[in-house]
Amino acid sequence: MKEAKTIVEYGVEMDAGKMVAPDDTTELTLDPGHPGENDAEYIARRKYLFDLTRKHRLEKLGPPIIEYTPEETRIWREVSPKLHELHEQYACDMYLKAKKDLAITDRQIPQLRTISERLERETNMHLVPAEGPLPYRTFYSYIAERGFPVTQFLRHGSHPEFTPEPDMIHDCLGHVPPLMNRDYAEVLTLIGKAASATPHGDQVLALKRYSWFSIEFGLIRESAETKIFGAGILSSTGEIPFSLSADVERRPFVTEDVIATDYDPSRMQDVLFIIPSFPFLRAEIEGLVRRFGIAVK
Ligand SMILES: [Fe+2]
Repeated sequence: MKEAKTIVEYGVEMDAGKMVAPDDTTELTLDPGHPGENDAEYIARRKYLFDLTRKHRLEKLGPPIIEYTPEETRIWREVSPKLHELHEQYACDMYLKAKKDLAITDRQIPQLRTISERLERETNMHLVPAEGPLPYRTFYSYIAERGFPVTQFLRHGSHPEFTPEPDMIHDCLGHVPPLMNRDYAEVLTLIGKAASATPHGDQVLALKRYSWFSIEFGLIRESAETKIFGAGILSSTGEIPFSLSADVERRPFVTEDVIATDYDPSRMQDVLFIIPSFPFLRAEIEGLVRRFGIAVK
């Protein structure tokens, strides 16, 4: 019988059955209702980028240099200043410093190849070009090898502040800057190694919740203030103010509580956890993996 429950792979809903036998999509498909579904030019561009980045991923060539179109640059220039203004007010210092160090600006869509080389020097992480959402085990196997899969396509220009799937803005402005932090890089890698190694579904679920409430939707204490570093928040003009509003229940990041808490990816997140620090996050995941008895190399 088909399992009705869905799970989330970094913001993308997947059928739970696909965890066991995940799809390896070899051709671009846009979901029904996608803002670009009737735009032939957009679909052609997405197909080109899909094929190019898939080839680079499978042949381990690193992120290709992309010549971005005027329309893609327009979208970047429309969305990123709005996000940047919010980042300056609400993002944690580590994120702001990393964004600056990586020379990510409002004007130019960055080349992930250059960023990947920089990350490699700083934290021994690298970026893996991804044509779209990857099968669950593939995704974690890259993370375990210190590679973070990132897309290089832009959302459709009709709704610049909305994307139904992780795109360059989500990945580059959300996930990439924290990879400059050593503790964060170790947290991520350990989650990838543990999720790849364990045969137990309940442990995978716990690791996914840990990841969701930190990597994707984490808040952090900094100079007696609550700041944002989760990619799902930092890449959304709606989630940033919402995450710090009175409509959200913010709890202390207690691992046992986090791994027992479910989430609904289809809505604004109204339960979030506040992490005391990046070293704390790292120590907690190391402790959790030990308690689970997962052997990681
Ligand atoms: Fe994400």
